[in-house]
Amino acid sequence: MKQNIYENPVFFKEYISLRESGVTYNDFIEQPAIKSAISTLTKKSILDLGCGTGHFARYCIDKGASKVTGVDISRNMIDRAKIENSHEKIEYICTPIEELELHNQKFDLIISSLAIHYIEDYSKLIVKIRSLLNKNGEFIFSTEHPIATARNEVNNWVKDENGNKLHWALDSYQEEGKREHNWYVDGVVIYHRTISTLMNTLIDNGFSIEKVIEPQSIPSGLDKMPKLVNEERRPSFIVIKSRRLS
Ligand SMILES: C[S@@+](CC[C@H](N)C(=O)[O-])C[C@H]1O[C@@H](n2cnc3c(N)ncnc32)[C@H](O)[C@@H]1O
Repeated sequence: MKQNIYENPVFFKEYISLRESGVTYNDFIEQPAIKSAISTLTKKSILDLGCGTGHFARYCIDKGASKVTGVDISRNMIDRAKIENSHEKIEYICTPIEELELHNQKFDLIISSLAIHYIEDYSKLIVKIRSLLNKNGEFIFSTEHPIATARNEVNNWVKDENGNKLHWALDSYQEEGKREHNWYVDGVVIYHRTISTLMNTLIDNGFSIEKVIEPQSIPSGLDKMPKLVNEERRPSFIVIKSRRLS
């Protein structure tokens, strides 16, 4: 069953207040990395899967995209996107990605920022993405890094008696599937997949892999969030850029 955790009022309030702080892993690590992977946005038609409040859709239009379709399961997110990032060239659709039907529409670029770890059936997702991409179109996504999602525990740092981080614990890596943890609320469900599954599923569906990024913080992030130095010890995210070949 698909979870729609962004409809949980406690979760939504905390998540929005985190993002509005502008001092987040998204701002300093994930967003710079995913943006750096995009070849060009000029005159491109774009599908943003798990678009949230639409800031990325707006960014694409500001950079010259011809149109953006933003899709999200959360009515809270789509309502906010329509207020904060409305534009005549952006269409927002409130639906689970898994149930998205866009007849006769294809896109030059499909992007998904930190939403794919919420999707249970990755193979089915990639088949759908291929069907929605023009030949030679790009599919770029970020997801929580498999070394961060492998264990069931969220707090994976092993520390000494003084609280110093000794090392990152990794376990259950090959055991793909559901992980349930606390992030503002109990029972937030994500899905762990290995790096080989993330890449080989693309390759098996006729994509080439063009770039893989295990991003570090940009320099200004280290000033504002010194703990981001830990990204040098283990990455929190992975960004994969692929292209539909045939
Ligand atoms: C971490 S937020 C990222 C939002 C946005 N991409 C960004 O970077 O700001 C993940 C988003 O994925 C959406 N999401 C989760 N599961 C989904 C699903 N099955 N179908 C569509 N959207 C989903 C959530 O509602 C949420 O808006």
